[in-house]
Amino acid sequence: MKIAIASDHGGFVLKNEIYNYLKEKKYEVIDFGTNSKDSCDYPIYAKKVCNSILNNEVQKGILICGTGLGMQIAANKFKGIRAVCVSNCYSAKMSRKHNDANVLALGARVLGADLAKEIVDVWLKSEFEGGRHQIRLNMIE
Ligand code: RB5
Repeated sequence: MKIAIASDHGGFVLKNEIYNYLKEKKYEVIDFGTNSKDSCDYPIYAKKVCNSILNNEVQKGILICGTGLGMQIAANKFKGIRAVCVSNCYSAKMSRKHNDANVLALGARVLGADLAKEIVDVWLKSEFEGGRHQIRLNMIE
């Protein structure tokens, strides 16, 4: 599976940590920045990751800002993107099984790095169940 990752300045440190973690686990990861703690605008980075999903360059995206909320809001403006901002493993799992989320938004000021990594693990390993859930997603589209 190929994954795109990006953050703003608020998520920069956690983004690098998750990037390294995923590389250790042998995922293919594209890092779309940001590349420093200098203040920047999260919608720019949300757009880069969403476009890489919509262009079929990657299958999933991870977006990190201070709260995860701005990234979630920005990503959900793109048709075909289903972004969820979660802070627990159960929601991460269910966002895949029932909602087929293709973007995971994380809040670096909300989560510790270890919990963030567990959330990423669960989210990447959980599979969409389809069936009645697909019907509901079609209604949203
Ligand atoms: C930046 O200070 C902060 O607003 C941003 O990282 C994010 O939390 C927005 O939702």
